[in-house]
Amino acid sequence: MRKPMMAGNWKMNNTVPEALDLARQIYQLVGDTTLVEQVLCPPSLCLHPLKTLTAAMPFALGAQNCHWQESGAFTGELSPPMLRELAQYVIIGHSERRQLFGETDETVNKKTRAALAHDLAPIVCVGESLDQNERGETVSIITAQVRAALTGLSAEQLQTLVIAYEPIWAIGTGRAATAQTAGDICGLVRSILREMHGGAVADTTRVLYGGSTKPDNISAIMEQPDIDGALIGGASLEAASYAEMVKITAQVYGG
Ligand code: PGA
Repeated sequence: MRKPMMAGNWKMNNTVPEALDLARQIYQLVGDTTLVEQVLCPPSLCLHPLKTLTAAMPFALGAQNCHWQESGAFTGELSPPMLRELAQYVIIGHSERRQLFGETDETVNKKTRAALAHDLAPIVCVGESLDQNERGETVSIITAQVRAALTGLSAEQLQTLVIAYEPIWAIGTGRAATAQTAGDICGLVRSILREMHGGAVADTTRVLYGGSTKPDNISAIMEQPDIDGALIGGASLEAASYAEMVKITAQVYGG
């Protein structure tokens, strides 16, 4: 069975003291529950202090981006070996990075390969824009993005991979995809994994949904058989709403 994941993408929010505070508050609310994997993805400079603070708490940490080279003259970038000391996960190809920072399917693939090569589990984001959605191109866009992200990788290399389906029109808009639509597209992602890498990879890879998830829609989303968790933006910045989503998910999974 795939362990459900609630990953909080804090984006460019929280100073170090605020990040530490938020983690403490979440821990007070969720306690030691391990039924749901809780991944906190703060700004990178918060990873080190959070790692120290959360050593005895049931949190995994994730970065929000990485470069594909190990080191070198890449001002402002962080490499997978640097991040691996502090985090287990790295979000790759979030739509904000694709739209605002010029990331392409090709760089997403390079980053995914580099992360896996350094034992950092990628959370690869895919998603269509509103225009693409309205033109009925969702299936072809998602298929192309997943295929491109995984180019050149073998089934053995994909063991820690997580994919997040995040329709761009649902991110930060308050307009989540319906549970049915989210479930169908996560099912499509799983079928692409099956076609590319076989049943074992398709059955074990976690596929998340992201885009305006909140305590009041998370239960319906988590009931979809092909959805294994959520990548949560806004609602992960408040301890109470994030903790509530963790608890609801644990209930859906029989906790
Ligand atoms: P949102 O963001 O939950 O605020 O819509 C999700 C994301 O960008 O990962």
